Amino acid sequence: MDPMTLMQNRYSCRKFGDGQLADEELGTILEAGRIAPSACNNQPWRFIVLQSDEDLAKVDGCSRCRYGAKTAILVCFDIDESAKNPVVTPDYGWIDCGLAIMQMALAAESLGLGSCIVGAYDPEAVRSAFNIPDNLVTYQFLMLGHPEAGPSKMHGDRRPLGDIVIRGGF
Ligand SMILES: Cc1cc2nc3c(=O)[nH]c(=O)nc-3n(C[C@H](O)[C@H](O)[C@H](O)COP(=O)(O)O)c2cc1C
Repeated sequence: MDPMTLMQNRYSCRKFGDGQLADEELGTILEAGRIAPSACNNQPWRFIVLQSDEDLAKVDGCSRCRYGAKTAILVCFDIDESAKNPVVTPDYGWIDCGLAIMQMALAAESLGLGSCIVGAYDPEAVRSAFNIPDNLVTYQFLMLGHPEAGPSKMHGDRRPLGDIVIRGGF
C-alpha cells in the first residue's frame, strides 16, 4: 500500500474481534516503533505488551477504551533518557512516543489490523497495576486487534488545509 493510502485508511478502531495478533504481526508493529525517530536519537520509549487475560483485565480497570482489543501496548518513556542531552532543553519524551505510536498504528494498518491510540486512562491506576517504576512516564495505550468496526464520524472530520496552513507567516 502506498504511504498516502495507508495514512488515509488508518482510523481509530473501537470494536475488536476475538482473534489474537500473530507473533509475527506483533513483531512487525514493535519494530515499526523501534525504528521511529527521536530527539538526539534518545529512543527513550518502552513498549509494555499486555496480552494475557489477567493483564487485559487490569487494562480494563484503568481505562474504558480497550474496545475488546486482545493486545494493548502501553507506551512509556524513561525521563532519565528523554532529557539526558543538555542541548535538548525541553523534554521531548512525549513527542518521541507520539512518533513511535503513530508508526506502530500505521504498521498495524499495513497488516490489515485495527488500532486505537488511547489516552483516557487513570495514570495512577496504570502505574500501580503494572508496577511502573518512577523513572517511566506513561504516555498512551495502543489498542490492537482484528477490526470489527469501521471509522467513526471523526475520522472524516478534518479541517481544510486553508484553515491550518499559513504561507509566509502572519
Ligand atoms: C493522543 C491521542 C489520544 C487519544 N485518546 C483516545 C481515547 O482515549 N479513546 C478513544 O476512543 N480515542 C482516542 N483517540 C483517538 C482520537 O479520538 C481519534 O484519533 C480522532 O478522533 C480522529 O479519528 P481517527 O483516528 O479515526 O481518524 C486518541 C488519539 C490521540 C492522538
